[in-house]
Amino acid sequence: MRLRMNRTQLLPVAFLVLLSAICKARPADRTPHDLSNTVYQVGTQTILDLVVDKLNRLQQEMDELKQQQIITLETREGTYSDTTSIHRIVGPAPLDCHEVRRREPRAVSGVYMIKPRGQFDALPIYCEMDKEGYGWTVFQRRMDGSEDFNRHWRDYSRGFGNVSSEFWLGNEFLHHLTMQYNYILRVEVTDWFNRKYIADYSGFEVDSKRNDFRMTIEEFLGGNATDALTYHSGSKFTTTDKDNDDSEGVNCAVVHHGGWWFQACDRSNLNGLYYQDGTYGGEWDDGIEWKETDGPPFYSYKATKMMLRPWE
Ligand SMILES: *[C@@H]1O[C@H](CO)[C@@H](O)[C@H](O)[C@H]1NC(C)=O
Ligand SMILES: *[C@@H]1O[C@H](CO)[C@@H](O)[C@H](O)[C@H]1NC(C)=O
Repeated sequence: MRLRMNRTQLLPVAFLVLLSAICKARPADRTPHDLSNTVYQVGTQTILDLVVDKLNRLQQEMDELKQQQIITLETREGTYSDTTSIHRIVGPAPLDCHEVRRREPRAVSGVYMIKPRGQFDALPIYCEMDKEGYGWTVFQRRMDGSEDFNRHWRDYSRGFGNVSSEFWLGNEFLHHLTMQYNYILRVEVTDWFNRKYIADYSGFEVDSKRNDFRMTIEEFLGGNATDALTYHSGSKFTTTDKDNDDSEGVNCAVVHHGGWWFQACDRSNLNGLYYQDGTYGGEWDDGIEWKETDGPPFYSYKATKMMLRPWE
């Protein structure tokens, strides 16, 4: 990592050297009547502009990289402090849980160190190994209401919670992860009779921070849950302190009490409030919501899981 930072810092220096070389090469002593000289000067000016432009962009990128590094370190120290039960795997950190399963076919469900491309450090991630031989990278889980999901943009960006119980892995991580392959998203919701329902989607992708972590999916592949997510495809992420939804007048995250890819406002929000026993009252459906067409209007699920594996 130290090497990478040094290289990044060296780039602007290299451009400064190039810049000064170009300035020196500029022929200031010739008369402006010389046509070829005019052309040459225009050319130089254009190059100078390009270099300055590039320098600015590099500076911006460097700031972002630094910010990301800080976020990663904070995440490692603050959020995923439960590192007692991490499963070891020989060799470099896998890109996702699917790779864990591919390298170790007998690997069991649990926490592994995972490092997607573009991510600075490996992070402890919960992997679910299913009976079909797939390894799913779990990025959201609710199970007992122990974690507060009514949080700000920063928390949703870097992730929060405990990978061994309730957590959100973080939008930054989700972005890096979903850039790697074409991922299938599996949503799993469990009601208060312990009936489990699933919904699968292809082409799940989370855009960069610059585009406010916009989420897209290609297609609802089926399952025995309703499709409550296609409505949200193409939406940016919204939190109580960052309103990116299409609703006029209200911030959906404020009234639904959790960060999500709200539109105007929702068919689903698995990051809502945890209501014991499912049904609840109130003005807004701010529970753990996955709309069933014929279900009770305000129903909050007992447990949820959102996880990814590459399409193959
Ligand atoms: C994380 O959750 C597990 C399981 O509930 C628990 O044993 C552990 O103490 C938790 N760790 C932290 C840091 O809260
Ligand atoms: C829904 O499908 C899943 C996966 O096939 C299955 O495990 C679950 O039991 C089904 N749920 C119900 C309520 O039938």
